[in-house]
Amino acid sequence: MCKRILTASRILYSVLISLILCAALFTAGCGQNNVPVQEEKLIRVGFSQVGSESDWRMANTASMISALSEENGFELIFDNAKQRQENQLLAIRNFIQQDVDYIVLAPIAESGWDDVLQEAKEAGIPVIIVDRQIAVSDDDLYTSWVGSNFLAEGQRAVRWLEGTIRQQGRLNQPLRILHIQGTDGATAQIQRTKALDDAVRTHPGWTIVSRLKGEYTEAKAYELVRDFLATGQQIDVIYSENDNMSFGAIRALEEAGISCGTDKDVMIISFDAVRDALRQCLEGRISICVECNPLHGPRVASLIMQLEAGEIPAKLTYVDETFFSPGILSEELINEREY
Ligand code: AHR
Repeated sequence: MCKRILTASRILYSVLISLILCAALFTAGCGQNNVPVQEEKLIRVGFSQVGSESDWRMANTASMISALSEENGFELIFDNAKQRQENQLLAIRNFIQQDVDYIVLAPIAESGWDDVLQEAKEAGIPVIIVDRQIAVSDDDLYTSWVGSNFLAEGQRAVRWLEGTIRQQGRLNQPLRILHIQGTDGATAQIQRTKALDDAVRTHPGWTIVSRLKGEYTEAKAYELVRDFLATGQQIDVIYSENDNMSFGAIRALEEAGISCGTDKDVMIISFDAVRDALRQCLEGRISICVECNPLHGPRVASLIMQLEAGEIPAKLTYVDETFFSPGILSEELINEREY
């Protein structure tokens, strides 16, 4: 009888302890008002970046890293493709394997994405394209794109050129243009080239003396312009599809004893408007810097947040841009800029 009472009280005791433990565990997972605390879940984003070929690209990478930070609720998996598409394909497949929540792609070129984006679609991972565009058989292979209107940039440049040589009274005289192109097949290259080609077609005196493939880097452009100048061919204008290639061209021109500036031997038209280029513009070596805005991080973060909220973001978002020439610029304005 006594033994039975002892066993019963032991059972009662262990039930009581278990209840207390359960209650303790439950309240440990509660906030001040006994509301269960949800562990903040980070949004996992795989970002495949083109490379680090230019000042523009570095500013773009910095913008993406700062917007897609843990502080802002993201876990960013960053991959630098070093200007090779095969590296981007590999990175995207890795992101799919890691089952990220979103893939962000800054594509090196427009073509070659169908298969890998089909794989992302089958895995149910939304893909956001940033900066350059892609050409795919089915636009549903990506969710949204944000970037620059590269054709409008090119048109801004050639309109400026036309206005400037009209002012100089030489609109109907021959104009010899050296064209330094960016990476083949990139939207920035295709559209900036198209704007120049369209302008050359409508100005009988304008000729493209040579096209150099500068791959958006200063080193490559320097070598190519140096070798071109060694042939002794004469030019009036350099249309350079980014600032870093302009830096290389300026170095080659100066070494060859050729001056650059609007009223000098060679006029330089440059794209991006990064801080160092704006300085060269203020000092007169670059005649016009056409702006290409790299600060896409917050824009991409906002697209993701729209998707998280169940909204359908715009398929294409073009950013507002302008251009700078020496008359518009000041040291103060340059210092205020973010890149
Ligand atoms: O796609 C944008 C272009 O890529 C920028 O003009 C260039 O500097 C960069 O590398």
